[in-house]
Amino acid sequence: MIEDMLRTPSAVRDAERYTAHNYHPLPVVISSAEGAWLTDVDGRRYLDCLAGYSALNFGHRHPTLVRAAHEQLDRLTLTSRAFIHDQFADFCRELAALCGKDLVLPMNTGAEAVETGIKVARKWGYQVKGVAPGQANIIVADGNFHGRTTTIVSFSTDSDARADFGPYTPGFTVVPYGDLAALEAAIDGNTVAVLLEPIQGEQGVVLPPAGYLPGVRRVCTENDVLFIADEIQSGLGRTGRTFACEHEDVVPDLYLLGKALGGGIVPVSAVAADADVLGVLRPGQHGSTFGGNPLACAVATEVVRLLATGDFQRRSAELGERLRAGLEGLLGKGLVAVRVRGLWAGVDIDPALMTGRQACERLMARGVLAKDTHGSTIRLAPPLVITPDEIDHAVAQLAAVLAG
Ligand SMILES: Cc1ncc(COP(=O)(O)O)c(C=O)c1O
Repeated sequence: MIEDMLRTPSAVRDAERYTAHNYHPLPVVISSAEGAWLTDVDGRRYLDCLAGYSALNFGHRHPTLVRAAHEQLDRLTLTSRAFIHDQFADFCRELAALCGKDLVLPMNTGAEAVETGIKVARKWGYQVKGVAPGQANIIVADGNFHGRTTTIVSFSTDSDARADFGPYTPGFTVVPYGDLAALEAAIDGNTVAVLLEPIQGEQGVVLPPAGYLPGVRRVCTENDVLFIADEIQSGLGRTGRTFACEHEDVVPDLYLLGKALGGGIVPVSAVAADADVLGVLRPGQHGSTFGGNPLACAVATEVVRLLATGDFQRRSAELGERLRAGLEGLLGKGLVAVRVRGLWAGVDIDPALMTGRQACERLMARGVLAKDTHGSTIRLAPPLVITPDEIDHAVAQLAAVLAG
């Protein structure tokens, strides 16, 4: 039997046997990749329409990023922040410039960037705004996804993410996403920050109502509250702009960045803000052994340079229109809703037809990898190097899956 000669089944079995089941991956075992394409252990090829949840915006093994990593591996990989290394200043200066902010604070994972933003906002609240000790509060949105630490899941509204992980960290108020009046009503003298995803990725690429983000900006400014934009998934070219906030000309006080900042090679995250905000931290108050390490900085500096040209943002905006047109053509033919910004789409499948998981399994069988989120929603986020023909191919495969 041909099936007996395939390497995938035993690799899937072993992966399940020896790991905690905190994920439910598609049964595909990838062994190599280039650009927008993946190859599995049995030589089958797949078009990547997830891009590592936007960590692979520049595609797999982008030559400039791989070269930077190789060169750095041969020179210096880690110093810790006890010493300064020669890749550090360039990275921080160029990322700060890309963000239009004075300073950056590098970390590793997205969750660490969120934790950093929370700590900075609280300290700013006590030291600059004058909030009474222990009273600082942060407003967040229903349906948020900001990571998996105990503090972050404390203000999650997803029971899978939150249940049985208490006791929970106090100091957060949840308001409905997109409801400016509710947000404004929740603000009081102890509010130090509003923490939002400008587009809610995990929730299914939920776009904010027009005017919401500018409204949040105005309300924050009027009430001396920091606006923290979690652009970990939405930022760095994904939506056709450097930052999703830019679509409505909104500039937050803090950007939280991650995922694509590491070029799909190393985990790199960062917080960018002006000196009156990030300047509240003193030595010993925050840090990370690997944060801002030489390998991370070498790769991430090249990421920032790729973005500084604007080419990826333009490509994402242009190709996003093609993706939108293709997906909107499937409305009423198995799709009940389509939300697109740049090369980022959330599509809701008619639940009577199939679940998102089933759709992704059927797409996989047709050589396209995507990932379901809640219920019958799937998210399409191909690497920004995808070609127009490849977008048409992905849409055609989805059409075939929906047609059964
Ligand atoms: C908006 C957002 N914030 C934070 C995170 C957490 O990032 P990480 O998984 O690198 O900790 C994610 C991850 O999906 C995210 O989408």
